[in-house]
Parts: sequence; C-alpha cells; structure tokens
Amino acid sequence: MSIDERQSVLHSWSVQADWRAPTVVGGAGAWLRLSDGRRVLDMSSLAECSNLGHQHPKLVEAIRAQAQRLCYVSNAWGAEPRARLADMLLERSGFEGGRVFFTLGGADANENAVKIARQASRKPRGTIIARDRSYHGATHLAMALSGDSRTQAQVDAQGMGVSHVPPPYAYRCPFDSADADDCGRRGADAVARRIDEIGVDRVAAVLMEPNAGTNGIVAPDSYWPALRRATAQRAVYLIADEVMSAFGRCGEWFAWQRHRDTCPPDMMTLAKGLTGAAVPLGAVVLSHAIASRLEHEMLYTGLTYCGHPLACAAGVAALEAYADENLIERSRTLGAQLLAQAKRLQQRHEVIGDVRGGHGLFVVIELVADRDTRAPLASWPHTPPALKALVHEAMAEGVSFATRGNLILLAPPLVIEEDALDHALTLLDRLLERHFASTPVEVHP
Ligand SMILES: Cc1ncc(COP(=O)(O)O)c(C=O)c1O
Repeated sequence: MSIDERQSVLHSWSVQADWRAPTVVGGAGAWLRLSDGRRVLDMSSLAECSNLGHQHPKLVEAIRAQAQRLCYVSNAWGAEPRARLADMLLERSGFEGGRVFFTLGGADANENAVKIARQASRKPRGTIIARDRSYHGATHLAMALSGDSRTQAQVDAQGMGVSHVPPPYAYRCPFDSADADDCGRRGADAVARRIDEIGVDRVAAVLMEPNAGTNGIVAPDSYWPALRRATAQRAVYLIADEVMSAFGRCGEWFAWQRHRDTCPPDMMTLAKGLTGAAVPLGAVVLSHAIASRLEHEMLYTGLTYCGHPLACAAGVAALEAYADENLIERSRTLGAQLLAQAKRLQQRHEVIGDVRGGHGLFVVIELVADRDTRAPLASWPHTPPALKALVHEAMAEGVSFATRGNLILLAPPLVIEEDALDHALTLLDRLLERHFASTPVEVHP
C-alpha cells in the first residue's frame, strides 16, 4: 500500500498541488526519522508543540498504560488522569481554588475561554479585545480573534464581538516609539483606551499572547504588567493565550510567570506543549474568582472529548517530564545561548534586521531588504523566494527550519542536544551566506 498522501489528504495551510512533504515514520529527541531512512533535526518542534521531543519514552509509556486501563469516559463521569492533570495545572499556575476546562486544542480553548468570560462577566455578548497580527486558531471565532491578514476576509470580527488593537511590535512599533519598553506601554495604553471607548460594561475580556507567538512578535517586558494593570483597574478579564508560549517555550511554565506572581491573568488557554503534542489536548484554566461565579449555574458548553483520559494521561506524564528533567530551566539557559548565537549571525549577515526572544527556546530572526530603513524583504505574510530556497536546502542537509513571512522561527524541542543546536546554527550561517551574500535585491510583490 502506498504511503503517499499527496492525492488523498487535504492539508492545512497549504496549496494542495504544492504539498510535497516527506513521510515521518519515527523519531527520538529532537530528531525525526523519515521513510527513506534519513534523520532530520527538528528546529521548530513541528508546530512549536513537540516541546518534549519525539517519542518521549515517559509519554509513550503513559499513553500505553492508560490505553490498557481506560481509553475513554465522557465528562459525565470522573477519570483519574483528568483529576490529576487539573490539580497539577492549578498548582503549577498558582490558580488556587480555580478550575480547568479541557478542550481538544488551542482554537477551541480560546473559543471556550471567550464563552466563559462572557458568562462569568454577565456580558453575554461582551466585546473581546484582541490584537492585530496575532494567531489564536482557525475555527471561526478563533479566526475572528486572530489579527491574521490571511483569513481576515473570511470572518466578520466585529460582528462576532471582537475588536483589534495594534500589537507591541517594538521593531516596527505601530505607536512610533523607538524604545521597546515605551512601545510596550503604549500597546497596553491602546488596550485601555479601547476599553474606555467601547465602555467597561460592554467589554467581556482582553485576550492576548503574553510574550511571543508564531506571528514572531515578542512583547517588550513592559507590556504584560501594564496590560494587567489596565484591565484590573477596569475590572475587565485578562485572558493569556499560552497555547504556544507555555511549558518552557518562553522559559517559564507559563510565559506570564516571567513577571513573577504579580501579573497572573484571570484565565489562560493551553494546548501544544500540554501533552508535548503526543495526544491532542487543550485547556482553559480559570481563576478562583471566575470559577466561583460559575459554581452554581449551568455551563452551556461542552465537547464529547472534554478531558479525554488518554490525553490527560499524556498531560500528566508531560508535566512530570518537564519537572523531572528540569526542562523549563534548560529552555531558559539554552534560549539565552541561542539568542546570543543568533545575534552573532546578525553581525555577520546584513540581511538580518532583528533578533528577538530567547527567554526560552524561541528565537525570532527577522530578515530585511535594508537594515537602515528596515524595509521588509517581502510584504507580510509572504515568504521571500530566497528564504524558501534556504529552507529547502537545509532540509536536504537534514535540518528542518520553520519560517513565517520574513521570519525564521527557531523553536527546537527543549530536549535538543547542545551540539545539535550548534550544528543547526552553523548550517544556517552557511546558508544565509549562500542565499543572502550581498544586500538582497529581490522584493516580493
Ligand atoms: C498562540 C496560539 N493560540 C492558538 C493556537 C491554535 O491552536 P490549535 O492549532 O491547537 O487550534 C495556536 C497555534 O499555533 C497558537 O500559536
């Protein structure tokens, strides 16, 4: 039987006729094994989700053991791994007395967070303030929440009660500030102003990525604390979309913890690293205050697979592995090293306009046509042909890099060996030299 899926599967975020990915048959650590026997180093944790690497033995064993014991019971029944995982998440986040609503992934976590915020705030059609150039998923409401130019035309964000504000994108600050922290504060001010314009009584929540996202924006340190202050002063819920940024990706269990315990959100949404992507699972973690407001009323939402025992068992094993193997700290240390290495590349390659992130193993390299003017190499969200060629050649040499527009997103599994990381950066150096040796000339329409 052929294992080629090119003719039969409809692939997401792809032009079907162009889809030509190799078949993966196994993996170990940061490496994937292909059907032709080659190994590929995964520099993006697939979709920034395989934080524990591939086929982590503790995850595989936990899934096997749970499958033997009990594959599934619905939410109308209790399940041991579900109870354990909820307790672990509340403990790790410090959301004492809160509750966890389990979903299947990130988009439905955000959708349900919005429903919960509207119900708990007693604003059933309350506006949700989100950001331009954010990504919150590809279901309809998640698309409306996302400030994603690729899909904006497909949804009526305003009609779905979503209002967008500019992002704290310090390298290209939409508030015309040259200082990163000032840009972050202005970003939070824009949210405050938007709440005031709409009216506190009509805003149910602010939903934002606290640190970094796949869109390549890394919020300046001033942003989250200022956002927390602005929302708390107005008694508007703050929801942290931690789908990508949690579980070590940004150097903490949850990225908002970078600001210690002073800035917890009222809710956070999780997925991806929650199970190291071994089984699909998402979650909405609610503060005690929100959970109490819902305690004695019907919750009008649900999913057949809410808190699926197999997925929750994987989640318990994943959380144990992060802790037992010190992977959150490891990500912080290696992230700082990766940032320093990427900054060295910037010194050598004119095409690198900005390097940011590095709070954990998430570093963004932004390519530009001109460093002085910061003119983008291609208009967002297009990927310049030379960058596509670079990625293609890297793959041929056994390293898989993720790109988005003009960005190279470095987000390897937290278990990556240091020499593998060095190998990837050395290759990137060589390929940048080959593809962007002189100041680039090509500009995508
Ligand atoms: C910040 C963020 N939120 C939500 C999502 C959507 O998650 P899912 O693809 O599991 O629906 C993503 C996925 O990339 C994400 O990065």
